[in-house]
Amino acid sequence: MPYTPPGGYLGRCALCHENNGMAEQRLLALYQDPARARLSLRDDLTPAYIRQVVRNGHASMPPMSRVEVPDTELNDIVAFLTSPKTREAAP
Ligand code: HEC
Repeated sequence: MPYTPPGGYLGRCALCHENNGMAEQRLLALYQDPARARLSLRDDLTPAYIRQVVRNGHASMPPMSRVEVPDTELNDIVAFLTSPKTREAAP
């Protein structure tokens, strides 16, 4: 059964990280690998790394506070991005 992305991912991350968004394009230029460019296809992201990038920002990605992305939402996003099922779930 395909694993549905949580609302927080669709609302806060997908606009840049899916559907050839600007982050997907930047990561494609960096890695030259479509499966590493789209966040929902990654199998190498750790919870600690995702949390650090979201809270502190990363290069041209702005940091997101607990007001923008509450901890409960971030927990769901981390679970989604670190689940092996995400390989079937590119929205
Ligand atoms: C405004 C656009 C934008 C949004 C929204 C955004 N990101 Fe990003 N993100 C980027 C960009 C751009 C990069 C690549 C930074 C670079 O290397 O230039 C990035 C990089 C990352 C990376 C590092 C990938 C790697 O290969 O090291 C992670 C993890 C990440 N984002 C997670 C998220 C999550 C989770 C969300 C939602 C909570 C999110 N991002 C929302 C723009 C965005």
